[in-house]
Amino acid sequence: MNSFVFQNPTKLIFGKGQLEQLATEVQAYGKRVLLVYGGGSIKRNGLYDKVMASLNGIGAQVTELSGVEPNPRLTTVHKGVDLCRKHQIDLILAVGGGSVIDCSKAIAVGAKYEGDVWDIITRKAAAAGALPLGTVLTIAATGSEMNAGSVITNWETKEKLGWGSPYSFPKFSILDPEHTISLPADQTVYGMVDIMSHVLESYFHHVPNTPVQDGFCETILRTVINTAPKLLQDLQSFEHRSTIMYCGTMALNGVLSMGIRGDWATHNLEHAVSAVHDIPHGGGLAILFPNWMKYNLDAGVERFKQFAVNVFGVSTEGKSDRLIAEEGIEALRSFWTSIGAPSRLKDYQIDETSVETMADKAMIYGDYGHFRKLNREDTVAIYRMSL
Ligand code: NZQ
Ligand code: ZN
Repeated sequence: MNSFVFQNPTKLIFGKGQLEQLATEVQAYGKRVLLVYGGGSIKRNGLYDKVMASLNGIGAQVTELSGVEPNPRLTTVHKGVDLCRKHQIDLILAVGGGSVIDCSKAIAVGAKYEGDVWDIITRKAAAAGALPLGTVLTIAATGSEMNAGSVITNWETKEKLGWGSPYSFPKFSILDPEHTISLPADQTVYGMVDIMSHVLESYFHHVPNTPVQDGFCETILRTVINTAPKLLQDLQSFEHRSTIMYCGTMALNGVLSMGIRGDWATHNLEHAVSAVHDIPHGGGLAILFPNWMKYNLDAGVERFKQFAVNVFGVSTEGKSDRLIAEEGIEALRSFWTSIGAPSRLKDYQIDETSVETMADKAMIYGDYGHFRKLNREDTVAIYRMSL
């Protein structure tokens, strides 16, 4: 394995009833709180009232920023930065999913930057600091609750870009699986596809001697595969919601990528699709990942074989390595289809006319991917396979 430094400063507070810790956590940072949330799910499921009761209990002065979009927009980040300046905010509290948390991360660094935060998102400037950020997670998916990453969409230029900084880790994140119980089946599926995709991005690499990393990845993948059908049968299950929530955080908090360099090409491909078409991130990944795998099989048949055998239990007898590897890719595709994930871009009415535009977006920083470098021609080919 490669040399590495691991540092993750986020305090994770996990389990039933853990919202009771919120007041103490907030008090450590001050009284002026910017409460950031999405389109209203937290009002419908009662979480908003609980959070407000907790904030009112400590006499916090709460400013609200609601309506953060799935695939959060730069315009909303700008609104948040203005509110932070106007109300001299001490702490940003994000209550929601990856979109709300990512938006809050950009607001947090934007509030400490004199120019336009888009400079930081486009990597033209480095963040020099951030307001403290706390989160209450409501969907198991992105891992944003315990990483420094954030993905923001500039809808005017149709760019959806990931960025991160040492300042954008949440200070604390409260994860009560009960807060995810109101999540409908489709979003639950998108979340599980995203979780598996984060693991797969770490799993496909060429670094030798990574048995522990491989084992962590394979365990998380098998766990999601075993749990997903049971959870979809019983969306109210606290036990299954807990398992998936823990998988989601572990899939992208840096633990799986210790000593390896993940691929991340499929995420780049997906962000370009949702930059243009505003589709759910997990839906896009379900379509693209198996095609990325098929397209790049020759870059490491052994690795794909290991995936097929250790994750899906594909039998090896009398089969070539290539056939085993191909069966593993098919197993992933059929598993995702079996839980209701989409498999073709046309499921989102995306056709050939968008391919070149999406490729422009995917190529914004040039060739990409570490398992195998992809250029524009590869990008177009994978999109065409996915139509
Ligand atoms: O907006 P509300 O009304 O809250 O509804 C949301 C939203 O419509 C709903 N929802 C969330 N929790 C709920 C709920 N509905 C009922 N009950 C609940 N408990 O679910 C919808 C999707 O929410 P969103 O936050 O958009 O989902 P997710 O967590 O999947 O985040 C997706 C965004 O994160 C980015 C994606 O690209 C996308 O923009 N990513 C962020 C990453 C990171 N920061 O590390 C990594 C990922 O790879 C990903 O790219
Ligand atoms: Zn993702």
